Amino acid sequence: MSDHTEFQEEEFSATFNGKTILRILAQTKAHWPWVLGFLLMITLVSVLDSYFTFLSKRIIDEGIGAGNREVLIGIMKQYALLTIVQAGGVFGFIYLTGILGERVRYDLRKKMFDHLQKLSLAYYNQTPVGWIISRVTSDSDRVAELVTWGLLDITWGVMNILTSAYFMVLINWRLALIVGAIIPVLVVVASWFQKKIIREYREVRKINSKITGAYNENITGVRVTKSLGREKANLEEFGELTGEMYKSGYRAAWLSALFLPIVQFITAIALGSIIWYGGLQIEIGGMTIGGIQAFVSYITFMLFPIQDLARVYAEMQHSVASAERIFSMIDEVPTVVDLPKAKAPKSLQGDIEFDHVDFAYDDEPENPVLSDFNLTVKRGENIALVGPTGGGKSTIVNLVCRFFEPTQGKIKIGGKDYTRYTLHGIQSRIGVVLQTPHLFSGSVRENIRYGRLEATDKEVEEAAKLAGAHHFVSELEKGYDEEVGEGGVLLSVGQKQLVSLARAVLANPEIFVMDEATSSVDTLTEALIQQGMETMMKGRTSFIIAHRLSTIRRADRILVIENGKIVENGSHAELLRKRGHYYRLYTQQFREELSRAQDPFMAKLAEAEPESN
Ligand SMILES: Nc1ncnc2c1ncn2[C@@H]1O[C@H](COP(=O)(O)OP(=O)(O)OP(=O)(O)O)[C@@H](O)[C@H]1O
Ligand SMILES: [Mg+2]
Repeated sequence: MSDHTEFQEEEFSATFNGKTILRILAQTKAHWPWVLGFLLMITLVSVLDSYFTFLSKRIIDEGIGAGNREVLIGIMKQYALLTIVQAGGVFGFIYLTGILGERVRYDLRKKMFDHLQKLSLAYYNQTPVGWIISRVTSDSDRVAELVTWGLLDITWGVMNILTSAYFMVLINWRLALIVGAIIPVLVVVASWFQKKIIREYREVRKINSKITGAYNENITGVRVTKSLGREKANLEEFGELTGEMYKSGYRAAWLSALFLPIVQFITAIALGSIIWYGGLQIEIGGMTIGGIQAFVSYITFMLFPIQDLARVYAEMQHSVASAERIFSMIDEVPTVVDLPKAKAPKSLQGDIEFDHVDFAYDDEPENPVLSDFNLTVKRGENIALVGPTGGGKSTIVNLVCRFFEPTQGKIKIGGKDYTRYTLHGIQSRIGVVLQTPHLFSGSVRENIRYGRLEATDKEVEEAAKLAGAHHFVSELEKGYDEEVGEGGVLLSVGQKQLVSLARAVLANPEIFVMDEATSSVDTLTEALIQQGMETMMKGRTSFIIAHRLSTIRRADRILVIENGKIVENGSHAELLRKRGHYYRLYTQQFREELSRAQDPFMAKLAEAEPESN
């Protein structure tokens, strides 16, 4: 249960919701012949179970008791035949359970996967990855369990009770009435106990997930803990949690221990009355020995599902909560979607214009990142965005890529509001290289080919050469066939950027967006990345969130972004001459780079005013 975050446990207390159950059952609709077969098999097996007991009664009374050999053989034959039928039934429902479970699980996972691809970035912003993964894995398992083993438990239990009741009435209706009076008592007692037990166990689980979280935080943050001298306080918190857990666990164990003896006691009363009353009846000839024996069996039969009732109920609740979480994800409406009349753009070549754009992230609507933001970027222009952290650079390029849309105002490409185009049409024409680029597990070649799936090996290598990636790839042991590991863990950040650049070169987009890596890469890799960027920038409108002086100076225009505003706008030389924000930023941030710079003008500036800010 370690994958349970507190968040999930809270949601788990959701009450039973009939709508959700119907919706879960609807998941099996496509497989209704299997469901039907499955239910029939269980019914068959359960009816036969009860019938066997009835046959036993007849064997005792009509065969053995009456000393009638022929009847005995006749019943035995019937018994043997039905045993074979029952074996088939058992095989059938277990087999069908497996199939049904697999199908429902597959359907749900596919639905979620399809939907996850459609959801906008805003969703991923607000939803932890771990949460999503739990939905796809453990929650879909639990729902599949509900429509298989859960359905089986319920059908089985109901059928057991009904058929037992039927045969009891058939044998002796007066005795059946006595049993009928005791059953509700058992149901009430059983559900009272199990509800309590479940509540305590749930408490244990909840605390346990808190403890897991505490462990996690403590282990990953051990350096901080130590450096702040927090060990003692953490230990105390931890002790409190484990103490609570111990108490709940203790109560649950106590209740569980009490439960069975009480149920057995009530059952014993039932059995006792039957034997007593039945025994009296034998004397007056109203009841047979086989009959009494059968009654005892039927009571035990009915008892199983009743004892189990609360457990099944709890599991159902658990599954329903899982289903609710799954459905909440499936029902999530993507925030950025194609308008009904959206068309694929013929081309995105043209000026890009921010026209009175307001933008706020969903979680902070009252705190817009951009307000009344205006910017026109000429077709083919190379823009470098610089400025302090949190200024809004990434937000601006996210809007260009339409990962998010303006809350007010328009973004126009080639004079047209870009929401008139399809998302796919736009995004497939923009090449993006992220600050920490993501690679997929697979070979280097596969990762580059992701840019254009039909590209030949030769084209892949051409692209790699243009992007500056060829050099390092050819030094890998297996070259282009080298595996990059999950998420590209086997490569350095610089190498990942090179592969992403190659991917972008291969895709040949019309707009290029890059968030330059801030982590240090070695000088050779840096030079290669520069080469790749230059290839991409040539002839394309590009937005580079730049951290390196070399990149910035190459841009046609530099925008200094602070607090969601363009505070300065111009070429490197122009902005330096202004001695404003840009000048300050660079005399501060790039002093080291400046001292190495071969630019005599810059070097002189840096020397002249070393402490300026
Ligand atoms: N996904 C998000 N959800 C909510 N708020 C966000 C999100 N991303 C950024 N912000 C907020 O928007 C503002 C602008 O952030 P943005 O990431 O655009 O800045 P930046 O200039 O790219 O900064 P950096 O140089 O650190 O990358 C910040 O106040 C930030 O806290
Ligand atoms: Mg950023």
